[in-house]
Amino acid sequence: MVDKALDGAITQLIAAGEIKGKSGELTLVHSLGKIPAKRVVVAGLGKQAQFNVDSIRRVSAEASRFARSKAARRVATIVHGGGVGGVEPDRAAQAITEGAILGLYRFRRHMSKEPDNGDIQELLIVERDEAKRAQLEKGRDVGSVVAEAVVFARDMINEPANFMTPSIMADIARNLASECGMELTVLERPQMKEMGMGGLLGVSQGSHQDPKFIVLSYKGDAGSPKTVGLIGKGITFDSGGISLKPSEDMGEMKGDMAGGATVMAVMRAVGRLKPKINVTAVIPATENLPGGSALKPGDVIKAMNGKTIEIISTDAEGRLILADALSYAVKNGLSPAVDVATLTGAVRVALGDVTVGVFSNNDELSKKVMVAAAEVGERMWQMPMFEEYKEQYKSDVADVKNTGGRYGGAITAAQFVGEFAGDTPWVHLDIAGTSLSKKEKGYVVKGATGVTVRTLVNLIVNLEAE
Ligand code: BES
Ligand code: MN
Ligand code: ZN
Repeated sequence: MVDKALDGAITQLIAAGEIKGKSGELTLVHSLGKIPAKRVVVAGLGKQAQFNVDSIRRVSAEASRFARSKAARRVATIVHGGGVGGVEPDRAAQAITEGAILGLYRFRRHMSKEPDNGDIQELLIVERDEAKRAQLEKGRDVGSVVAEAVVFARDMINEPANFMTPSIMADIARNLASECGMELTVLERPQMKEMGMGGLLGVSQGSHQDPKFIVLSYKGDAGSPKTVGLIGKGITFDSGGISLKPSEDMGEMKGDMAGGATVMAVMRAVGRLKPKINVTAVIPATENLPGGSALKPGDVIKAMNGKTIEIISTDAEGRLILADALSYAVKNGLSPAVDVATLTGAVRVALGDVTVGVFSNNDELSKKVMVAAAEVGERMWQMPMFEEYKEQYKSDVADVKNTGGRYGGAITAAQFVGEFAGDTPWVHLDIAGTSLSKKEKGYVVKGATGVTVRTLVNLIVNLEAE
């Protein structure tokens, strides 16, 4: 249609071999007054056999960024994939919306200069068939809720540690709770002591920032006693503590609260989508610093469930705060429990920056998580959990020790955390490799990715449908 209005300009470019339709290919065509839009971007969708909803998300991101680089302010798009792609209109509109919002994302909060080419103000999805309208609008609305949740997580993760302390995380949770009508409890040090949260208290000892134990509850099904638990690691800065990390790239550790940001973002989406299901997020938040009263290698602490832990490395702090958070979740009957954490460098070694590590004590639950991830195009892979690994974190002086040696580090860390899940069906997502991106690719941009937000929102929606 656009081609016809442009007197076959696109057909000619195809004939001339200038447009091949390859995935990622973007061509700018000037309309020279033939249609109201000054310029047309032709985006290659790649081979049909490889085309899926995620391709739409990617193309939407790349084409939107391309338009922005040409200083566009208003963009209109057809429903990619709606034709030969055979994707349902609502799913296509959702993917277009998510792709555009995520692909255009940038973190400019601390930059005084305006961006060179400005920002796109409006994206219009154009469709002639009136019958598809309602479905397209529904997809657009869900897509913006989901994408804005990912943006919310990215913003928190990208924020420098001096702007994202445990207290600030608690303030953000307070705003979330009042905006979306959720319940909020924030436990302070005295209450943590009362409850025996030796893990979180221990890690926080070396810092001047007060730790916060944040509990956010959404009640979508008041009649049901069941509540899903989402637990997120909230280390707002991980220096390693007394087991100090090398200074190179230590700044990346401002993002060690990505798990916490992720579950808060999921709660935001859930609070807006309002599924009929109960969900509670638990976020233990603290800095890990080497102050004068910091935890030391050799110290023994006691977690909330009574298990004692010998500290081998103060840099293996994530599992200590998760131990308390998971004990709390189990004690409060949250089930199933899913935790998200930038837990180990070892998962990066194993799966790179592409794939999230999945660990579980329950095959039925892990399958549901894997399905939810595949449906939204997030790469995940399940890792083994065998008895034999337990040997590696046995202690001579306490019930367990907090490291399991170099080999299988992501697995021993996961199994350590699993010790505090008891019989509750539990899944652990290690996002240490995938939480930050060094490059721009499709709807992922440099910096925080917000990975697992979309999977977990989808998981909640799928669990509601059960
Ligand atoms: N936050 C780190 C893990 C991490 C590494 C996240 C790289 C993102 C990128 C975690 O607290 C940590 O320091 N883990 C140690 C554990 C070790 C001491 C057993 C690690 O992976 O080196
Ligand atoms: Mn650490
Ligand atoms: Zn950490």
